[in-house]
Amino acid sequence: VISLPISIYLDNAASTPVLDEVIQEMIPYLTKYYGNPSSLHTFGTVTSSAIMNARKRVASLIGANHREIIFTSGGTESDNTAIKGAALYARKQDPEKNHIVTSTIEHEAILEPCRDLEKRGFDVTYLPVRNDASLEPSVLENAISQKKTALVSVMFANNEVGTIQPISDLVKITHDKGGKTIFHTDAVQAIGKVSIDVKSLGIDLLSLSSHKINGPKGIGALYIREGIMLDPLVHGGGQEFLMRSGTENVQGIVGFGKACEIAYQRIIECQSKLTTLRNYMIKKVIDQIPYSRLNGAHDNRNPNNAHFTFFGVNGEDLIIKLDENGIAASTGSACSVKRQKPSHVLKAMGFTYEEITGSLRFTLGIQNTKSEIDQTVSILSEIVKELRLLSPFKSRYH
Ligand SMILES: Cc1ncc(COP(=O)(O)O)c(C=O)c1O
Repeated sequence: VISLPISIYLDNAASTPVLDEVIQEMIPYLTKYYGNPSSLHTFGTVTSSAIMNARKRVASLIGANHREIIFTSGGTESDNTAIKGAALYARKQDPEKNHIVTSTIEHEAILEPCRDLEKRGFDVTYLPVRNDASLEPSVLENAISQKKTALVSVMFANNEVGTIQPISDLVKITHDKGGKTIFHTDAVQAIGKVSIDVKSLGIDLLSLSSHKINGPKGIGALYIREGIMLDPLVHGGGQEFLMRSGTENVQGIVGFGKACEIAYQRIIECQSKLTTLRNYMIKKVIDQIPYSRLNGAHDNRNPNNAHFTFFGVNGEDLIIKLDENGIAASTGSACSVKRQKPSHVLKAMGFTYEEITGSLRFTLGIQNTKSEIDQTVSILSEIVKELRLLSPFKSRYH
């Protein structure tokens, strides 16, 4: 067992701690209830009814019917199933439907399947965003062709800078202009923090992931509105309404279901606690650290996200120094950081190279406290001062 020196965890957009209640509910499905949910005997019916219960809990969180939820291995698979599944099915029905619209600030789990479909003959329009990462609805309207556009996919809340998109307007535009054009949203970061009702919003497809809402990793779901048809990615025994074959990850599904139930019960409390703590942090950082700036939308913002640029310092140096002090933060998407690529989101927002490298993301969770924020800002302020003294541009920022 590795002991973790981190004492303040502020990277909840990357992953979250699994709640005790969730673990307790999962344990029996790792010990005594090991039957295959497809089996007809009692061992099987116990696990298949546990899956049904979890499906209902996931559905309730977003106002869906349980028959409209399929379980996947996580947000990435849900996004791939939505993008490839919808586009390939639509083109089979009508060869002219070979156009997809998405935005320049999506997660790689959307951008990569879109790039793959481009290689398979689809045209993809990547919509630009404003400098706070929000999408202007008329830009979407101009991109849709009723004849050609099979699918529009725009994320609910951005994983790096937290900007929430005007989803209701975007869905309406998609359906008004596109007719049968399908609207998908990657709601992986918004779930549990923003109240989402798929029916009143009119969403056709929506991706969720368990480990972002205090559930286990390796499990997620896709909401598929009744009547929407997709080509499955995984073929086999026909589980998940023929949409995702393979023996189900029962313990993961049970844990995810419990995490959704808790998220549903606590959503108002969670929203208000995270917003208050996050606003407290933003004010403190801006007041105490000169030459710092908040990025992303100021009002329509995911309640847990605080993303800053600290001019004259390097975000990765900041992360290392914070880590040495027991604080976990991030420069943005965990996937892009590993690939050492400058953030495509910040680039799309028009940031300069200096602004991109000086950026840092804090994402709060329900476990964080005001005293942790006080400690973080006071350490951060010292580290920024220290790093600026080492910077070749030190005369600019003191
Ligand atoms: C917006 C967004 N979409 C998709 C994913 C991928 O989800 P998962 O890690 O469950 O595959 C992430 C994870 O960071 C995300 O932030």
